[in-house]
Amino acid sequence: MPSVFQLLPLIVQQNFGKQQLERTPEPEAVTDNSDNVLQYDRVMETKLAISYAIAIETIYKARTNPFGGRALDVCCGPGHMSINLAKELKLDELIGIDLSAPMVDVASANAKQQGLSNLRFQAGDATSLDNLGDAEFDLSTMMDAAHHMPSLDVLKKVLFELDRVTRPDGLVVVMDLVRLRTKALTEKYVQMLGHDYVERGLPNFLADFRNSMYAAWTPSELSSAVQSDSRRKWNLVVPRGLPFVQFLIGQPINSSALFTKRSRLWKKGEDPVAESDQGDLRMGRLTMATASARSLN
Ligand SMILES: C[S@@+](CC[C@H](N)C(=O)[O-])C[C@H]1O[C@@H](n2cnc3c(N)ncnc32)[C@H](O)[C@@H]1O
Repeated sequence: MPSVFQLLPLIVQQNFGKQQLERTPEPEAVTDNSDNVLQYDRVMETKLAISYAIAIETIYKARTNPFGGRALDVCCGPGHMSINLAKELKLDELIGIDLSAPMVDVASANAKQQGLSNLRFQAGDATSLDNLGDAEFDLSTMMDAAHHMPSLDVLKKVLFELDRVTRPDGLVVVMDLVRLRTKALTEKYVQMLGHDYVERGLPNFLADFRNSMYAAWTPSELSSAVQSDSRRKWNLVVPRGLPFVQFLIGQPINSSALFTKRSRLWKKGEDPVAESDQGDLRMGRLTMATASARSLN
């Protein structure tokens, strides 16, 4: 983890001045190259495991009934986030969907290896969930994948579909990276975080991360993909300083607060990250606790 002294100049650069870095869409929207799939399958060894823990705890805090129910995770990749989400929130059932057949095979194998029969992974396109009916799910998620959509119009289709298949009293959560303000800042950030991937022998994962940072949406672009006539109440949550993540949360229209609880999901010492990552998790939690939350409709 970079120290506060290393981060401070980046925080200053991110927060003063206009957005200069234009978006470069992902070279390959679908991840089916075998080396990339194999390296992504090792995601739980990396710092992304911390973002997953933060995401699961954020979903827990935003759900009215935190445990159980039926969930959909689109763009599920090798399924590690889906599996952790299902286990930690004690979901009754989860369907994971990805356009990449190799990702779906790896996700299915991962669930089977863990003896989880309530998870099902299938090939499918998040932009047209034709085989799923309206209001089928209590929770729908898309994690680290909004930046894989080639345009805002395509992203709008995904949000429309997630909104449609989720019950009015359910929750839609989209988590993704944030495109930083300048190229120089992005390169420094990738170098800082990518160090971990290099050390672990994951060069393709590092290349994917770098592409993702250039393909990520700014918070205002992500917000603009929400349907203005949605029957859900949408919020954008962005940690302050150097935003490592952003959340778009669609909650029931009559919700009085974004988060229904403040308590942690895990007891002290039971957080699902390695001992060496506890400090980063604490820092992530702190930035989420002080994040800006904006209602979009
Ligand atoms: C960066 S991975 C994220 C995987 C997983 N959600 C996670 O958080 O670890 C993005 C995934 O989105 C998938 N993808 C891209 N476009 C898609 C689409 N239109 N429908 C379904 N999956 C898609 C890719 O194949 C890839 O597996």
